Amino acid sequence: MWIVRAADSGLKDTLARLHGIVAGIDAEDLHNHDHSDNVAHYAVAVGWALGFDPERLAKLQRAAFLHDIGKAGVATSILAKRGPLTEAETELMQGHSAAGAAVLEAAGLHEESRWVRAHHERADGRGYPDRLRGEEIPLEARIILVADSFEAMTSDRPYRRGMTIGDALDELRRCAGDHFDPLVVAAFAGLIEGGGMPVHAVRSEAAPATASARPPRRALAPRRRGRLDRGCQPVVGLRVGRAPPGG
Ligand SMILES: [Fe+2]
Ligand SMILES: [Fe+2]
Repeated sequence: MWIVRAADSGLKDTLARLHGIVAGIDAEDLHNHDHSDNVAHYAVAVGWALGFDPERLAKLQRAAFLHDIGKAGVATSILAKRGPLTEAETELMQGHSAAGAAVLEAAGLHEESRWVRAHHERADGRGYPDRLRGEEIPLEARIILVADSFEAMTSDRPYRRGMTIGDALDELRRCAGDHFDPLVVAAFAGLIEGGGMPVHAVRSEAAPATASARPPRRALAPRRRGRLDRGCQPVVGLRVGRAPPGG
């Protein structure tokens, strides 16, 4: 309950209720009960690396932990579905970012609400719900997107096995500029490859403890095109017909 301790007393009850909702959502995920905690852990480390002050870090931590709270309104049959989602299901799933923002706005968490609403916006403007692009997307939302995607990619899901840390970093770099903010990807990869951020992956087979188990990679290597290019739909969203729901 560290997120509650970080809040002032007036918010404690509200945050405790929101925390309970998120715990319920994560509990529905049979493969990763710690998704929201892990996303918050990564996001705070990146915010710290980018020089956020303590107050901004506390808000980022709260928003990152609550980023998927809107999934409370999505049917478990959709959240836990093993096959590709239909268009209608995808639409319901994608509604979680706006729904979560509405919950946080009602709780008086205005900045966190804005960041949660934007946590599936893409750098190239092909995200949702507002199709923001580049720096139109709040930096905090760009951080949560990278943290969320890495966490989802490296953890087992009902429909696929988690990726290795090195492969997930490759994927972030491949999609930097299209899906992800290159600045955030560089900070994220630098933390992991420099040993400054432990990885909390949930995989069915032992994953390397750190990225250093693989040969070091060049920071922000040029994206590979041609045969390997998948049009930048990161693996986290490959089960969906039209667009990724994210982690
Ligand atoms: Fe999400
Ligand atoms: Fe998520």
